[in-house]
Amino acid sequence: MYLRNHWYVVARTEELGRELMQRYLLNEPYVMYRTEDGRPVALPDRCPHRRYALSAGSLIGDNVRCDYHGLAFDPDGVCVDIPGQEKIPAQMCAKPVPLVEKHNMVWGWMGEPEKADPARIPDFHWMDKPGWTCSDDSRGFDCHYQLVVDNLLDLTHETYVHTKTIGQAELVEAPIEARRENGAVLVDRIVRDCAAPPLFSKVVDFGGNIDRYQFVRFEPPCYIWIDARAVPTGTNDFDKGLQWVVMNALTPETDDTMHYFWGLSRHFAQDDEDMTRDIHEALIRTFEEDSGVLKIQHELIQSDAPGAMGNNINADRGITLAHHLVDELMAVEQAGA
Ligand code: FES
Ligand SMILES: [Fe+2]
Repeated sequence: MYLRNHWYVVARTEELGRELMQRYLLNEPYVMYRTEDGRPVALPDRCPHRRYALSAGSLIGDNVRCDYHGLAFDPDGVCVDIPGQEKIPAQMCAKPVPLVEKHNMVWGWMGEPEKADPARIPDFHWMDKPGWTCSDDSRGFDCHYQLVVDNLLDLTHETYVHTKTIGQAELVEAPIEARRENGAVLVDRIVRDCAAPPLFSKVVDFGGNIDRYQFVRFEPPCYIWIDARAVPTGTNDFDKGLQWVVMNALTPETDDTMHYFWGLSRHFAQDDEDMTRDIHEALIRTFEEDSGVLKIQHELIQSDAPGAMGNNINADRGITLAHHLVDELMAVEQAGA
């Protein structure tokens, strides 16, 4: 069960081109491509004739031809050709997914099309914000998307999982503050007078201990912003420190897999291309570590007794608030349906 009347990232801008691409989103297959003038298109990847995959067909101009019996569909899903037949029945159509391209991402609406309001696209403006330098990427995770939301809402795991990059012992000792505000969940943590973790000291010379800030924001269904800052202890001087925002879009692929789209935008050493590459690679290593943990966690949850639950600790407060928020939205959406 997924929230449907929300925007989900369905691809990074550069992933879509003049090739037909199949992608599962929220447990359903879609075929995606661009028209000749560059407009992104997503249609259900089941031919309305006999359910063969349109993505296995041919892109002819702006239309997709199913390469089983040759029916062709335009970008709006309208059937424009049935070989050997003049009359085209109205029901021979595919329902297109409303798409919007913004902030280097393609956003899709798999809910009721008339409710697809572009003003509700999550704020990823750091992707292309003047004065900031961003690198972005995506990968798959073999777990339910909720486990990644939970992972990012409790960053104490950095201490144990990410020892080579952003983890440090002092994190677990600093309490979090979690609250719900305007349809979002915020989890803040400040660690005073600690050593810089390995990745931080690699990219900024703090000259000693730091104050480290983590401001995490969750918006349903699957968005997490991590605003990370570090400054020389006691200075509050962000011009001499580290400041970046990691934007995470966690789109369910199936119940057992997900698409992880991310961008890291930083506000220091903006022109240093080596640093951009180093941070990008460090993040890829970091996500690889998360991916290993979450795959094991997902498999163990799947093989557990139905309804079996873990037990919460103080660090889970943000996760609990987020679960309640999603449950409430789900109840409203189902009541509407
Ligand atoms: S299944 Fe697509 S044309 Fe027959
Ligand atoms: Fe992590």
